[in-house]
Amino acid sequence: MYRTHTNGQLRAQDIQQEVTLSGWVQKTRDKGFMVWVDLRDRYGVTQLIFDAQRTEKSMMEQAQKLGREFVIQVSGTVIERESKNPNMPTGDIEILVSKVTILNASLTPPFTIEDTTDGGEDLRMKYRYLDIRRNPVRENLLFRHKVSMAVRNYLSEQGFVDVETPYLIKSTPEGARDFVVPSRMNQGQFYALPQSPQTFKQLLMVGGLDKYFQIVKCFRDEDLRADRQPEFTQIDCEMAFVEQEDILNTFEGLTRHLLKEIKGVEVGAFPRMQYDDAMRLYGNDKPDIRFGMEFGELNQVAKHKEFNVFNTAELVVGIAVSGANSFTRKEIDKLIDWVRRPQVGALGMVYCRCNDDGSFKSSVDKFYDQEDLAKWAEATGAKPGDLIFVLSGQTNKVRAQLSALRMELAERLSLRKPDEFAPLWVVDFPLLELDEQTGNYHAMHHPFTSPKPGQLELLETAPGKVKANAYDLVLNGNEIGGGSIRIHDKQTQAIMLKHLGFSEQEAKEQFGFLMDAFEYGAPPHGGIAFGLDRLVAILGGQETIRDFIAFPKNNSGRDVMIDAPAPLDDTQLTELHLKLDIQE
Ligand code: AMO
Repeated sequence: MYRTHTNGQLRAQDIQQEVTLSGWVQKTRDKGFMVWVDLRDRYGVTQLIFDAQRTEKSMMEQAQKLGREFVIQVSGTVIERESKNPNMPTGDIEILVSKVTILNASLTPPFTIEDTTDGGEDLRMKYRYLDIRRNPVRENLLFRHKVSMAVRNYLSEQGFVDVETPYLIKSTPEGARDFVVPSRMNQGQFYALPQSPQTFKQLLMVGGLDKYFQIVKCFRDEDLRADRQPEFTQIDCEMAFVEQEDILNTFEGLTRHLLKEIKGVEVGAFPRMQYDDAMRLYGNDKPDIRFGMEFGELNQVAKHKEFNVFNTAELVVGIAVSGANSFTRKEIDKLIDWVRRPQVGALGMVYCRCNDDGSFKSSVDKFYDQEDLAKWAEATGAKPGDLIFVLSGQTNKVRAQLSALRMELAERLSLRKPDEFAPLWVVDFPLLELDEQTGNYHAMHHPFTSPKPGQLELLETAPGKVKANAYDLVLNGNEIGGGSIRIHDKQTQAIMLKHLGFSEQEAKEQFGFLMDAFEYGAPPHGGIAFGLDRLVAILGGQETIRDFIAFPKNNSGRDVMIDAPAPLDDTQLTELHLKLDIQE
């Protein structure tokens, strides 16, 4: 038997027990006549003691040879520690070792296996298995397990059936590029890995399964960010005979259950916000509503003077930053530089101080008097002591810029509190989005989303105005889930695909299987998918999903540990019919 106890288990009441422990050497302290070893495993650390007066000489010598991260097994007696460590659960006891076996030696690890390590990101990713030995990484993985078990149990209790859908499929359009897999048996043909199991879960509804869920890997070849990985995990769900209200209630229930079970936080009914309002008030379809700073549109009160920058702008919009009149000129200038960075892209920024005596001092005093500025304060909700920032320009761009500034200010002012949770449903998304480069419309959610009742006809006349039966769940400024009520009849699906630029032939080739299924009694249905990685990270008070994935990819989409992607050898390329005969 390798162990009688784990390294997090023994307490004062175990004193005098004979025990066997196994684990990794965290560190050793050698005083010559005494050697202490911290032995670590997933469950904790237990201190071992080798004492020249009580331990055999050969054993002492062995203890002195133990290096960091050696895997050892020890037997001995639990004794009371002379100097107790109240910061450790096992801090009252230590093991007086009578036998030690080295199960495996270790090279010196390339970084310290401590909570705060000296290893940089790249090094830690290359040796991810060592990184996983560190408490913060292990705790994140255990936390993820806890969340995913809670999800499984909850959904199963609600009657959802866990069904696995295939990975080797055909393109599922979710707005990213596909990862493709060549087929050896079908020369020149390729599978695509699912961007989501969207069409399969719809077919399960046609199949009568009624309520489906799956915690499932999805693959999207897109640019990576802190909240995006090329392969990530969805909690994918679908229900038959439902309307939007049913879905929102069911998954509000799941989210509320998770907040309670995992974080001990009770939240009330989730607010709902129309997409148009989210864009108008926050410049963003996933607003963080933990703090105010709503946008105040200033066209009415800022476009009547000689200030051409505002007069020629489509939108003049501002935010009031609470208490920020205390910002120095230098701090304000730094923020102006910040919005002018190419990543944000503003040309400049106007500001207005709201003094305690009710007067105003703006950077455009030449053009605006106190009465004008008072109107700005009213529109942005600014109070004495606040600072108003104003941007202007083309509506979509200026909203995005002010939204970025709002989030940056919230970050700098520590308004984004990780232990506060503010969920929000964003509803009534546009069905289609205009691609400004090509001039074509594409589905904002995906092509299977139904328009709001009665809006199908608008597709012909004003496609950009059609609202979708689609919703996103936003948590603390992150889109953690999205879904829709689906089209469930062939004719509507055909109209939708036509508007997305598919010819009849293309629609048949790509989605014929789904449209055919719709002809055999498809029930009305709808669903949602949560991003599990994002959900876990946010519940964990963070936003970088990489930290909650056991083996993540780096920003170039590489797994630096196994060194993938990698070239294939000629034999494999030939088998897959991918060997190009390049002739000089
Ligand atoms: P959607 O594309 O909105 O919807 O994806 C659902 C959720 O998945 C998460 N997500 C990601 N997480 C990490 N890395 C990524 N690259 C990534 N892309 C998406 C987000 C997002 O809200 N089939 C539809 C769902 C449906 O209609 O039911 C779908 O996939 O949290």
